[in-house]
Amino acid sequence: MRMAIKEILTAPDPRLREVSKPVAEVDDALRALMDDMLETMYDAPGIGLAAIQIGVPKRVIVMDLAGKDEEPEPRYFVNPEILDPSEEMSVYEEGCLSVPEFFDEVERPAKCRVKYLDYDGKEQILEAEGLLATCIQHEMDHLEGVLFIDHLSRLKRDRVLKKLKKEQRLAAAL
Ligand code: NI
Repeated sequence: MRMAIKEILTAPDPRLREVSKPVAEVDDALRALMDDMLETMYDAPGIGLAAIQIGVPKRVIVMDLAGKDEEPEPRYFVNPEILDPSEEMSVYEEGCLSVPEFFDEVERPAKCRVKYLDYDGKEQILEAEGLLATCIQHEMDHLEGVLFIDHLSRLKRDRVLKKLKKEQRLAAAL
């Protein structure tokens, strides 16, 4: 298995605003993409990554919520759909590899079910709650071109984007 660490796009890169397209078939090429995504996510390090974050507009997500001292627990979601989001909400402090060094609280449905194809292309349904539910909803947002900062006030969002833009200008000038 050959894996590669890819560059992660950061806001305000316009590609992060693309709506990702459904995957037609889970084949070896798609598994290679998922392997690269997982490797890139572990390297960052992060707990979730959508394909568009490495510039590939496909409806694919990888995640691993295992703790530092636990066995890795990679999860792969192809063409995921959220079913039955709960009315009960929960709040987590979120971050995003595409919005580096910024964290803030976001409120989302506390529970949901997710229908998706797994690494082998088999249909699965997962009952999600807690961090898993939050993370899957955060990653699903990426597939629609939405970032977690879009759930914050305009003032906060603009402040973060301005700071990131400035940092990117400085980095480009080096
Ligand atoms: Ni993210």
